[in-house]
Amino acid sequence: MTTQVDIFSRDDLRRIEAETFVRHVEFHRELPSTSDLALELAAGERIASPLLVLVEHQSTGRGRGTNRWWSLRGSLTFSLVVEAADDLPMDRWPHISLTSGLAVCDALAAFAPQLDVGLKWPNDVFLGGLKACGILVEVPPRRRRFVIGIGINVNNSFAAAPDELRTIATSLYDTTQRHFELTDVLIAVLGQFERRLQMLHGGDPSLVSDWQRRSILDGRRVSVQLGEKQISGTCRGINPQGALLIETPRGVEPMFAGTVTAIEP
Ligand code: BTN
Repeated sequence: MTTQVDIFSRDDLRRIEAETFVRHVEFHRELPSTSDLALELAAGERIASPLLVLVEHQSTGRGRGTNRWWSLRGSLTFSLVVEAADDLPMDRWPHISLTSGLAVCDALAAFAPQLDVGLKWPNDVFLGGLKACGILVEVPPRRRRFVIGIGINVNNSFAAAPDELRTIATSLYDTTQRHFELTDVLIAVLGQFERRLQMLHGGDPSLVSDWQRRSILDGRRVSVQLGEKQISGTCRGINPQGALLIETPRGVEPMFAGTVTAIEP
């Protein structure tokens, strides 16, 4: 069932432009993928950025790698286009993933202060040990811009989902038994995003300590897949360069990219 809180009115769109750093909202009731449209727009030379592509229903969302992303009614689905500051060194560009994940953690923690909100490197957001948000960061060719696609499970529920999904995914509704105005959640995420982006651009060291504090993998046995290579070992946190540290019999290895495929308690 679609309720009023899951629909964006004209007032909601006006609020987003008035209350956040977004200069233009590109709103659609339905799209295949907000990130596909955002990448197309981000390829333009002059765009009104930060630009938000927002949709009520996304039909063929993309996840990391070859994964699909299913956006159910009641979830929040959008892509944000932001400029990379002229003086942001290329070696700090990958930090945008952790920075985005952290911004979502901050916002969700404000809505559900009693909950355990954590970051699974590089940018999945977990509520009480289950995934509540996925983030896909892309860079359009020949532009110093980031396209950050974010899907957050807000009012949708996994209570009736098959076991294989219910044991890995959750939503704000499932964890709090409350409904939230999607516009309020979006405005909170964008506010935190602006703050965290300023910290990234300014080289603020507390950004590093904040993502280290939110990491849910520390001390746990994990496997990380990068192409053909798989590394298993004990996670020793995230270093200031944003790499996941894996302790193996060969020593502590930094992983700058990859997907965490298995986590043991
Ligand atoms: C993942 O966890 O694999 C990342 C999922 C990213 C999904 C979001 S939803 C909005 C945006 N549009 C897309 O097609 N994908 C991203």
